[in-house]
Amino acid sequence: MPQLSVIVPAFNERDNLAPLTAALASTLDGIDYEVVVVDDDSPDGTGALARRLAQDNPRIRVIQRIGRRGLASAVVEGALSTSSPYIAVIDADLQHDERILPAMLAKLRADGLDLVVGSRHTGEGGMGDLSSDRVKLSNAGRRLFHAISHTHISDPMSGYFVLTRGFFDEVAHSLSAIGFKVLVDLLASARRPVRVGEVGYQFRSRAHGDSKLDIVVELEYLELLFDKLTGGWIPPTYFLFGLVGTAGMFFNFVAAALLLRVWGVDFFRAQAIGALLTVALNFFLNNALTFRSARMRGAEIVTGLLLFYVVCSIALLAQLAVASALRQFGVHWAPATLVGIVIGSVWNYTIAAQLVWRGHRRRAT
Ligand code: GDD
Ligand code: MN
Repeated sequence: MPQLSVIVPAFNERDNLAPLTAALASTLDGIDYEVVVVDDDSPDGTGALARRLAQDNPRIRVIQRIGRRGLASAVVEGALSTSSPYIAVIDADLQHDERILPAMLAKLRADGLDLVVGSRHTGEGGMGDLSSDRVKLSNAGRRLFHAISHTHISDPMSGYFVLTRGFFDEVAHSLSAIGFKVLVDLLASARRPVRVGEVGYQFRSRAHGDSKLDIVVELEYLELLFDKLTGGWIPPTYFLFGLVGTAGMFFNFVAAALLLRVWGVDFFRAQAIGALLTVALNFFLNNALTFRSARMRGAEIVTGLLLFYVVCSIALLAQLAVASALRQFGVHWAPATLVGIVIGSVWNYTIAAQLVWRGHRRRAT
């Protein structure tokens, strides 16, 4: 059994794999290690190339997931496929400097730590030529992390770290495995102070291919924080659903106001058109964001939208029934309205997740 398992999440990284495995071979010379490439069925043939490399290099293994996506879940499943006492996570695109890996491992063992992070904000560290927008984003993410966690660490946004199997096993069942920020997930899942160390490095620029970090990944970070803060009691997709719903309320108001005051539509029609447009907008946003893992395309969209109209109408009736019942029992109008909204939204979410977007990713219990 190897001493170190190096987990490499890889999506469309074909041109980076051979240089990466060569670089790992030279830096890890003298260490008994294995490399586990976790590919999500990349269209560019990353999985097939990894298998070809594995034929000449028995240290390389491949996991190819079909019909799945996700950096965090790839890392978690890669780690679960190994048995060595130390686990490293490094990106496939050579942006993480593999030459500090031996120092990270040595520090982990010598100082008896749970985890050592490759950091861009300590010692020799640096963000390289990462765009200023990405640096700002990373700093915002850091501040959010420090708001939810007591672990002192300079680069919680790092995707590069080494940890012990003992620590991984401790938190494995509590991981959310959402989005890109596996390190935040690991640290926030621990029920005790984590013993962390850091080794600085300069973030390199990408030689081949493109970053997969987009607006959805940014929202996934918020979803992850929500899941950590609620301790897994509320489905994390409900967070995005609620966000979309709130945006919808503002849109509805503006649409009704425009119809009424600018386009001279009568009051009742303005209400009806505003509501119909809002439900459609919510449908498309939920399809693209909240339930993207079961996203509908083409003709499905038409039936999905119609079904969503039916679901929302029933939710509206339930909301009205609850609010007026509470009102009859003498409850103040404000809590009666709020409870009605909550009931309507929870109903909407539940039925949408079960019926409209069937088969979207569910959390294992
Ligand atoms: N299997 C799999 N599935 N791998 C993925 C997926 C996916 O859905 N999405 C991304 N990856 C792999 C990429 O192929 C790459 O090896 C690695 O995850 C990071 O993705 P990038 O798209 O290169 O992200 P980045 O460079 O913008 O940000 C990375 O580095 C930062 C600094 O360490 C991420 O790891 C960030 O979380 C990190 O903050
Ligand atoms: Mn990258």
